[in-house]
Amino acid sequence: MNMEKEILQVEGLTKTYGRNENRTEALKGISFRVLEGEFLGIMGASGSGKTTLLNCIATMLKPTSGRIVLRGQDIFGFRGGKLADYRGREIGYLFQEFELLDNLTARENILLPLSLHGVAKRQADQSIQAISRLLDIAGILEKFPSQMSGGQKQRVAAARALISDPAILLADEPTGALDSKNSKILLDKLAEVNHAGKKTILMVTHDAGAASYCSRILFIRDGQLFHELRRSLSGESTADFYERILTVTAQLGGGSANVL
Ligand SMILES: Nc1ncnc2c1ncn2[C@@H]1O[C@H](COP(=O)(O)OP(=O)(O)O)[C@@H](O)[C@H]1O
Ligand SMILES: [Mg+2]
Repeated sequence: MNMEKEILQVEGLTKTYGRNENRTEALKGISFRVLEGEFLGIMGASGSGKTTLLNCIATMLKPTSGRIVLRGQDIFGFRGGKLADYRGREIGYLFQEFELLDNLTARENILLPLSLHGVAKRQADQSIQAISRLLDIAGILEKFPSQMSGGQKQRVAAARALISDPAILLADEPTGALDSKNSKILLDKLAEVNHAGKKTILMVTHDAGAASYCSRILFIRDGQLFHELRRSLSGESTADFYERILTVTAQLGGGSANVL
């Protein structure tokens, strides 16, 4: 066993929206741990609570109960500068619909998080050079979102999420709006960021092909953990892992829990 460090702990997380007849229990007590450098997939049907979970980790939402602990510290105890640091430097967020600002160029979109955090221009220039080379967008930095393909937009959004070198990248269905060719390009890049950059990634997806890039997958059903799959350490192929993922997703559709 190599030295595996835990980066994030989610403990007994619940989230209830609304009240009375509008009450929805989106998360019903979810617990799991994430190791540094993991590429963790989160799968589940639409409405199972995946986005709610990611938004809690991003502190965009406050859970009803439970804790989220980053390297030993409860993130909901963070205030002021500490909270800004957490959001700006520990977490990067990649959205399904890119969420780029239309009136800014790719370069300006990517630099936005750095300008918000007062990073010096020279350092920002170096960071954007490295990240745009990695994501193959060096040639489109002066373009506006309306002049880019979907695949390019998502790689620009990925650059924006990664420019601050966050400890954890959260990605909510990042290939959901992409065709299969651009999905593969993005997933290959994310895998590279995970391997070479040793970055921890939490990726929500309902595509088994996308999930097969992950090292471990949590399956959520109705706000609860339903199953977990781990890519075998003895070099299981993506194709074999994909088959195992399909087996579980078939059961997620209607079967009883934990039958595997
Ligand atoms: N802001 C909200 N207000 C009320 N209900 C919500 C809100 N956001 C999500 N929900 C509900 O919570 C449940 C989980 O939603 P969500 O986390 O978006 O699931 P997923 O991302 O897996 O599709 C769903 O039943 C959804 O309708
Ligand atoms: Mg969602």
